[in-house]
Amino acid sequence: MKATLDHIGIAVRDLDTALAFYRDALGLEVGEVEEVPSQQVRAQFLPLGETALELLEATSEGSAIARSIVRRGPGIHHITLRVDDLAATLASLRDRGVRLVDEHPRPGAGGSLVAFIHPSAAQGVLIELKEDPGE
Ligand code: CO
Repeated sequence: MKATLDHIGIAVRDLDTALAFYRDALGLEVGEVEEVPSQQVRAQFLPLGETALELLEATSEGSAIARSIVRRGPGIHHITLRVDDLAATLASLRDRGVRLVDEHPRPGAGGSLVAFIHPSAAQGVLIELKEDPGE
């Protein structure tokens, strides 16, 4: 499978506080802010060449990001690998018995399709697979 590192997602309690470090102190360029209602998060992208950091602030207490912060505090939440054919990648993982969070692609940020692999299958790392629109 050919894949590229799309972004690294970081759970934050408060975007403004996070930006005071990542944008102001570290001096990183700031990209778009995106509301992702399906995941109840606000996502602030910080482009880093071919990849990006994604700062994730929960917009409701039921959001996976809010629950992650309660359990583990802020920090790296997931890494996202971009693939050409998400449905085929998921089918291949299912065939191998890999534990998935999402059995089927669902809508993600920017019109993409996404699906998560369960961290228990990936050495404790939550991996998001993403297919860009129009591929
Ligand atoms: Co992400």
